[in-house]
Amino acid sequence: MTIQFYLNGELRREDAVSPTTTVLDYLRVSAGKTGTKEGCAEGDCGACTIVVVRKNGDDEPLYEAVNSCLLILPQLDGANVVTVEGLARDGHFDPVQTAMVESDGTQCGFCTPGFIMALFALRQGNEKITDGTIHDALAGNLCRCTGYRPIVQAAHQACQDATKDLYGELSPLIPGEGYEHNHQKFFAPQNLSQLAEMRTDYPKAMILAGGTDLGLLFSKDRDPLEAIIYTSSVAELGEIEETKDYLEIGAAVTYTRILPYFERLYPSFATLITRIGSRQIRNVGTIGGNIGTASPIGDTLPCLIALDAMLTLYSKTGSRELPLEDFFIEYRKTDLKPGEFIKSIRIPKLKNKQKFRAYKISKRYDQDISSVIGAYRIEIDGLRVKDIRIAFGGMAEIPKRAVACEGAILDKEWVEDTALKAGLAVTTDFKPLSDHRASKDYRLCVAANLFIRLYRDLTDAEDLMEVVAA
Ligand SMILES: Cc1cc2nc3c(=O)[nH]c(=O)nc-3n(C[C@H](O)[C@H](O)[C@H](O)COP(=O)(O)OP(=O)(O)OC[C@H]3O[C@@H](n4cnc5c(N)ncnc54)[C@H](O)[C@@H]3O)c2cc1C
Ligand code: FES
Ligand code: FES
Repeated sequence: MTIQFYLNGELRREDAVSPTTTVLDYLRVSAGKTGTKEGCAEGDCGACTIVVVRKNGDDEPLYEAVNSCLLILPQLDGANVVTVEGLARDGHFDPVQTAMVESDGTQCGFCTPGFIMALFALRQGNEKITDGTIHDALAGNLCRCTGYRPIVQAAHQACQDATKDLYGELSPLIPGEGYEHNHQKFFAPQNLSQLAEMRTDYPKAMILAGGTDLGLLFSKDRDPLEAIIYTSSVAELGEIEETKDYLEIGAAVTYTRILPYFERLYPSFATLITRIGSRQIRNVGTIGGNIGTASPIGDTLPCLIALDAMLTLYSKTGSRELPLEDFFIEYRKTDLKPGEFIKSIRIPKLKNKQKFRAYKISKRYDQDISSVIGAYRIEIDGLRVKDIRIAFGGMAEIPKRAVACEGAILDKEWVEDTALKAGLAVTTDFKPLSDHRASKDYRLCVAANLFIRLYRDLTDAEDLMEVVAA
């Protein structure tokens, strides 16, 4: 059993490393590639950014920036990896490196390699380059001492030339089905039935999707887990199905892959997705993983509850469907039975007059965890609210419907007074806690105020002027 991948064009085969070795440790300690730095070891600073080249839907290479501190080595099996050492070739800098030098974008040795790799992924992609896309590409790279302006300038310079160099093209390697070392097992099932078998045979094995939550066990806690079941190679868990009524997302689909669908079908949800971590996180993190953590502040959970999403849970004995709102039982406890896993998430499409809004309140816009998330699906017919579903995160030990708030709005006229009354009902629905992100009073206040935001958001500017004038 061997882990195989290309590193800067050179084939690496590893059969004597612990499967819980982080890619960052492997690069720095085993491969001697010390250009990749460790800053936080928890996905926040971007100093450890590397680029993984994968296939897109048209079998073209797709360059994705990822945090090597949160990945473990078997996750690279079959991949093509570029680190900062792989950029300069034949004695010439990559255009990103040249632009960084010429724009005075080079800073300290800790943050600069990560910035370069994030910009390299941006340059190799097909996005329209604007200040907005550059800021988004850099949101996962922190510098606490100097500034970003010369780096943004370097990004414009590097990306203005559309010629792309191919870095090792696509890896021809076929990923293996698992790896074992020193009694530590890493299973990489390729299909649903293999996954179901392993889930039954190894009930204590940890399910790993992108690892942006679990990665901390390896990078910080150095937990030598005995068995891991990796879901990203399971074909069925990577499927996306769109019908006229719903969008069904396999549990191992990444945020980056689902974003274009959300931009079309649920634009407000898409905006919220772009605020989950950074590109490095969204390139590997999954909605299935977000649900699996069952965190009260998981960003997608209230949105999916408000949209009335349904889970398909699968095990060796069959599958069952469960409304997402019934999946969360108590703090970080779910209704998942032994042997089960999340197969997919089905989200109904918005009907004609339904509108959806999601608001994330956090101390910082980018790369921050929510204090409160409010999500609303509302249907207004004339002035009357015909249908409403509301869910909040950060307000209780689980993400939860706001039933009293819904009652204050349903069948009422959609006027500012109704929104104010719904805000007052927040205290009936929730008794939030105070923690380092927000006090309970702040949470109650902001959740109530979000109803005013919703009202203003959904009300024509002209109508609002009349309200203000009155
Ligand atoms: C720097 C940083 C920023 C972040 N920012 C945000 C943020 O803004 N908002 C937010 O909500 N989260 C955030 N997160 C948390 C994390 O990125 C998300 O929760 C993400 O969706 C987890 O997905 P994953 O695929 O990486 O899950 P993993 O880490 O692989 O798994 C997470 C959990 O889900 C379980 N699981 C995974 N797949 C399945 C399955 N198919 N069936 C059953 N259980 C499963 C795993 O066993 C584990 O318990 C952040 C994390 C980091 C490191
Ligand atoms: S070391 Fe900070 S994101 Fe990886
Ligand atoms: S962290 Fe490198 S210059 Fe600020």
